[in-house]
Amino acid sequence: MKANKKDGELMEKIISLCKRRGFIYQGSEIYGGLSGTWDYGPLGTALKNNVKNLWWKKFVTDREDMYGVDAAILMNPKVWKATGHVDGFSDPLVTCDKCKKRFRADKVETYDLKAKKGTCPDCKKGNLGEPVQFNMMFKTSIGAVQDENSISYLRPETAQGMFVNYKNVVDSFHPKLPFGMGQIGKAFRNEIAPRDFTFRVREFEQMEIEYLVNPKNWSETFEHFRKEMLDWNNMIGLNPKHVYENEIADEDRAFYSKRTIDFEFDFPFGRSELYGLAYRTDYDLKKHSEFSGVELSYLDEETKEKFTPHCIEPSFGLDRTILAILSDAYIEDTMNDEVRAYLKFAPAVAPVKVAVFPLLKNKPLLVEKAREVFLSLKKEFGAVMFDDNGNVGKRYRRQDEIGTPFCVTVDFETIEKDSCVTVRDRDTGKQERVAISDLIQFLKTKLS
Ligand code: GAP
Repeated sequence: MKANKKDGELMEKIISLCKRRGFIYQGSEIYGGLSGTWDYGPLGTALKNNVKNLWWKKFVTDREDMYGVDAAILMNPKVWKATGHVDGFSDPLVTCDKCKKRFRADKVETYDLKAKKGTCPDCKKGNLGEPVQFNMMFKTSIGAVQDENSISYLRPETAQGMFVNYKNVVDSFHPKLPFGMGQIGKAFRNEIAPRDFTFRVREFEQMEIEYLVNPKNWSETFEHFRKEMLDWNNMIGLNPKHVYENEIADEDRAFYSKRTIDFEFDFPFGRSELYGLAYRTDYDLKKHSEFSGVELSYLDEETKEKFTPHCIEPSFGLDRTILAILSDAYIEDTMNDEVRAYLKFAPAVAPVKVAVFPLLKNKPLLVEKAREVFLSLKKEFGAVMFDDNGNVGKRYRRQDEIGTPFCVTVDFETIEKDSCVTVRDRDTGKQERVAISDLIQFLKTKLS
């Protein structure tokens, strides 16, 4: 049974579980929080790292045509002048003339973008006037002297850290087209209205690819990454029925893009953008070449053709990925006549893979054997938890709630009779006896 998606109940339940069980906390909580920021706790960090590692493996290390980079967050401000971010990376901001609250004009239902007027959605009395363009980049200052020459920005996307390293990668590795660069890292946007938990925040992580091609081949590469992105959604356990491809119309695309697909997802608050796939043409490399004065073209040794490579960009927001995984994984059902809430994570992303319990905590022989099993599993799987608090039923509930796929219990029979343990499946609650000598292999098979 899914909690009711439409009335916000599911979102409330997810936020509450995330806080209670150490997935995600409000940023700077003891100081009253900081809007648009969230801190990942121990389980959230593990979940996020699992997602990042899977992404890096699928899109970088498992491929022969990808180069990973990790560029600085602070970049020369000319980068953002070249890309158009300084002049154009803005949202329309409107302010209520009565309550003085500020809104993003294109996100307010009561605002008419053409007529440039509307009623305040909050106090419902004031008027929202003409929008002003609000630049979303966070400005900062580099060095001890603060003047206009010291201005820099926290990067609003990881993409440019790759474009500016195009020449470095070509000079170091001499890759032939097509090839790509991949990066995972923080991005910052001064969003007018952060909202919906980790969906729209001011500090977030992106996992991006800038894949460079001969323009003749852009369309087949676009199609390749479209399929790879759908495959990725399956890998991390998203229900394909909750993912939609939205082909962006000519008039709605960024001016430099010749084709864009937004992958949308059924979030608890409604259908919204999860990822984007864009054909950015040669816009970025050409602009950087023009503004830096450095030649950023490619010479095809075979055909002697010289041109600026074109770019296909699959862009994944990590924090939205985590929210999508949590929303699809959250399930309520009835087990042993009790309502339980659990996270049905795909094993690959589950922050804890296995939990090990002694049946009773005050029986040293049981505890000793359970610790022995725990240590051997920990060596193999890493993310394994030991729990001896409360009764076994309570321990199962606790592990279900954080999405642990399997629990292993050491009982008297383990020691006195059969050297077997009870393995319990999170989703079905089914239990089976498995010999300790077969346990690692058994779990390996199940977890893969
Ligand atoms: N380099 C292209 C680019 O940055 P984008 O559509 O602006 O494109 C890409 O962002 C992805 O980054 C989005 O699909 C979303 O997953 C994520 N993202 C963007 N803004 C975000 C925000 N304020 N909070 C959380 N995630 C965000």
